[in-house]
Order: sequence, then C-alpha cells, then structure tokens
Amino acid sequence: MLKELNLQETITHHQPLITRPRRLRTSPGIRAMVRETELNARDFIYPLFVRHGIGRTEIRSMPGVAQLSVDEAVREAEKAFSLGIPSVILFGIPGRKDPLGLENFADDGIVQQAIRAIKRNIPDMVVVTDVCLCEYTDHGHCGVLNRRGEPLARPYMPDGYVLNDPTLDILGQVAVSHAECGADIVAPSGMMDGMVAAIRGALDGRGFENTPILSYAVKYASSFYGPFRDAAEGAPKFGDRKSHQMDPGNVREALREAALDVEEGADMLMVKPALAYLDVIRTVKDAFPELPMAAYNVSGEYSMIKAAAANGWIDEARVTLETLTGMKRAGADLILTYHAVDAAKWLK
Ligand code: PBG
Repeated sequence: MLKELNLQETITHHQPLITRPRRLRTSPGIRAMVRETELNARDFIYPLFVRHGIGRTEIRSMPGVAQLSVDEAVREAEKAFSLGIPSVILFGIPGRKDPLGLENFADDGIVQQAIRAIKRNIPDMVVVTDVCLCEYTDHGHCGVLNRRGEPLARPYMPDGYVLNDPTLDILGQVAVSHAECGADIVAPSGMMDGMVAAIRGALDGRGFENTPILSYAVKYASSFYGPFRDAAEGAPKFGDRKSHQMDPGNVREALREAALDVEEGADMLMVKPALAYLDVIRTVKDAFPELPMAAYNVSGEYSMIKAAAANGWIDEARVTLETLTGMKRAGADLILTYHAVDAAKWLK
C-alpha cells in the first residue's frame, strides 16, 4: 500500500512548510489561548413574555418558552440573573386590546407591573422594555391605522395604512410609562420614522434624560418572527409589516436607518433578525463602531434549533453556542436570545 503511494518520494518533493496554522490547534490549551471570540453570559439579554393571571402557559412553537405571570417572570429573571445574565427584555400580553392599545401605557398594565416586580426583587437586573403597539392593538399592527372618516385620517393614504406621526406620540407615552415604573432601557421596535427622537424628547421632557434607548434600528420584514407572534399574540389581523419593516434584500438602507437613529440620539443599535443577517450586523458595526450593537436571535431561529434537536438531528448545546458565537463574531456586543438561560448553563 505505502509502497504504491510512494509516500517517501511525495514528501521529498514538497517545499518545507514554514507556516503551519495547525500548530496553534494542537491542544485545548493552545486553542483557548488563541480564541478570538468568546461567548459570555454577560452578552445576553433574555426575552420574557408576561401576561395577566397566574402560572405559565407554554408556547407550542417555542419549546422551553412560556407566557409568564408577574410572579413567574420574577422567578425566571432571578434564574437568569443567578447564572450571570445581566438583563431581561419584557414583552406584554394585555388583558384587553383596542385600536390604540391603551394598556400599553396604563399604570397598571402588565409590563408596568412586571417592571416594578423585577426591579423590587432584583434591583441590579437591567430591565429593558420593548416599545411597540402590535401586542396591544386589536388589529395587531405596530401603529395607529388610517381609518377613513376618523379624526386622524389621511384621506390620501390607503385605509389600514400605519400612520407614522400619530404613532410617535403614543410611543413617547409608552416609553415614559415604562421609565416611571423603573425600566432601565427602552427599546422601540416599530420601525416608525423618527421614533428615537420622539421617545428621546418624551423621556427628557419628564426628567428621564438618563434612560438609554436601544433602537431596533435595522429590523427586517422577516418570516422568522412567526413563533414570536404566537407567544406575544401580536400577529397582524390583516396585511403585513412591509410598509415599515425593511426588505430582506437591503443593506445600504440599513446604514441609512442606523445613521438616522444615531442622529436622533440612539444609545445602542440593534439588527434583527440575526442568523440570516450576519453581514448586516458586520456592516452596521463597522460603520458605527463607537456604539454598542445588539443582535436579536429571533423566535424562528430558536425554534429551528429546538425542532432539529428534538428530532436528534443536531446537538442542541453545540449548535446553539456555535450560532451565538457567530453572531458575536459578526459584531454583536449583545445578543437577545431565548437560549440565554440554557447557553449560560452550557458555558459554565
Ligand atoms: C414587535 C416585535 C416583534 C419581535 C420583537 N418585537 C414582532 C414583529 O415585529 O412582528 C419579534 C421577535 C422574535 O421573533 O423573536 N413588538
């Protein structure tokens, strides 16, 4: 065999190799020393869904994720915090929905209750709140809808179109309401033009000039949000979100969106989703290296891993950590992820 291969002769015909990248892969110790990107529980923001009532309601399309009562949300936040995860982001499922989403800025709203409870029990946990209308409106859209005949109506815009500027006033009120309950960071996710400036103005006007804004600056009209819409019960009752969320083919536009939000006073930027948009994360990070960047590892990305793992097709822990490492390597300083608690355990 060896003789047929004529190995000796092959070797002598090679150039001597000066550089051998494999030398730095020879042992776990050396590999750890030269690792460029290392995931840490500190990188995670853990999303929680809170609703009225008691107990937990599991979400079928997101195994391991549940809608939580306020008590359960505190318990889940404590679990995360004890594993070194510094932050949660809250999404509320209101008791009642209406065209404007009034519970969104009600003093006894579900998110308002959850913020107070988490801050009371875990004062050092950083509570981020999602600021949008879609979970609260009966139509499921992220803003006030154009309705012919109603006072705000723009007769030259189609019926059902999401009205930008009237929505800004509501977003400002929601952000102030969250800040009043003790929210540490507000995160507008509705992709309305001017939303960061409107929220900055509203917060400053009420003395919350130190509350940072994490802007969902670059958010695509993605099909990866499907399971989230089950979890948050915020699917649009008709139509889609393409009049405000970005087209998946665009990246120059991402720079424009990010630049506007920076100008308007965003303290941190987000790209969402993450997995199919790693190039966008890198592009935005390179353009604004001075701002902390977050990536949202969204519901559909989570559910794909859970489904494949449940079938025994992939190793859940390793694929999850590899995926999250990829997002960090692409430029994300922070990752919003439903895997946060599991990943923090695997990292220990
Ligand atoms: C809007 C919002 C959405 C998500 C986060 N904030 C849904 C949407 O835009 O339709 C999706 C997150 C996920 O899929 O995990 N409030």
